[in-house]
Amino acid sequence: MPIRILFAADPADWPDYQPALTQALKEAGIDAILSDTAPDPASVDYIVFSPGGTIRDFGPYVNTKAVLNLWAGVERIVGNQTLTQPLCRMVDPAMTETMVEYVVGHVLRHHLGMDEHILHQDGVWRHGAIPPLARERPVAILGMGELGQAVARALLALNFPVRGWSRTPREVPGVATDHGAEGLARVLTGAQVVILLMPNTPDTANTLNAERLALLAPGAFVINPGRGPLIDDDALVAALDGGQLAHATLDVFRVEPLPSDHPFWHHPKVTVTPHIAAQTRPDTASRVVVENIRRAEAGEPLLHLVDRQRGY
Ligand code: NAP
Ligand code: GLV
Repeated sequence: MPIRILFAADPADWPDYQPALTQALKEAGIDAILSDTAPDPASVDYIVFSPGGTIRDFGPYVNTKAVLNLWAGVERIVGNQTLTQPLCRMVDPAMTETMVEYVVGHVLRHHLGMDEHILHQDGVWRHGAIPPLARERPVAILGMGELGQAVARALLALNFPVRGWSRTPREVPGVATDHGAEGLARVLTGAQVVILLMPNTPDTANTLNAERLALLAPGAFVINPGRGPLIDDDALVAALDGGQLAHATLDVFRVEPLPSDHPFWHHPKVTVTPHIAAQTRPDTASRVVVENIRRAEAGEPLLHLVDRQRGY
């Protein structure tokens, strides 16, 4: 008997995911009925979900074996009290590649001082100070998970000294890793670039606050493709205005879309990107979703299972 998969993610994504999931199911040899509606919730074996998805109450889905989120971040679903089914987050190899490209691009922009030349094509021959070498510019990565580690590897390959911080101890070749509150101070002290790649949980709110921003090297850069609440926005603006920070590149915000009158849009030391650092790619993400369905059907452990207690 075919299994029934309900696509209850953002309806705008259905035209992309219908063929991608169908292809991935075919490749895996799984007999399934895939649809974006289910007249009988009790008939649904698997739910594909994302923020903007169509289900608020998971209670009626009494036979659903897993909810498979298309996003890496789960803060908008993990607290849903009606969700008792296992929840898996997205780890998509293409999304990881994109995040690496985004972060490396913005690190190099700041490291090489590219704005100086890109924004001033005015006939003045600016032959100022040469930038330091990458190996002279310490980078701190807050969050040493799938994305943080991939970014660390890419920056190490360019010779940046990389420090990494996580909740629990992590060993990452070439990275000076640390964890816990004291570890955070060690990782941040003297860092010239900070990259935030943690989830949005009650524990991670305002991780980068005034006290911690003050630990950075003067003139440091902040790059946040993690989540908006990881940074105390007022402290960030104060550090930019006071010169402790040279620039902040922000991809994620407390309110999205960022309101058009938000001061970040006009701050000369802030770059706003509209949550585009690393989007899930239908082809590769569908294979991840289908691999989890295959695992569940075979009685094997699910990949990327979310721990409700810790919130990610
Ligand atoms: P992940 O594999 O779960 O890694 C999360 C990392 O954060 C882990 O190292 C974890 O520590 C650490 N962490 C969690 N809570 C912490 C705490 N209280 N203190 C210190 N460290 C803590 O997640 P991921 O796949 O790398 O994704 C990270 C985040 O990136 C997502 O949650 C999402 O918010 C964001 N994201 C953004 C975009 C975008 O387009 N802007 C795209 C994808 C993802 P442990 O290692 O000890 O568990
Ligand atoms: C994007 O922000 C994601 O969490 O996948």
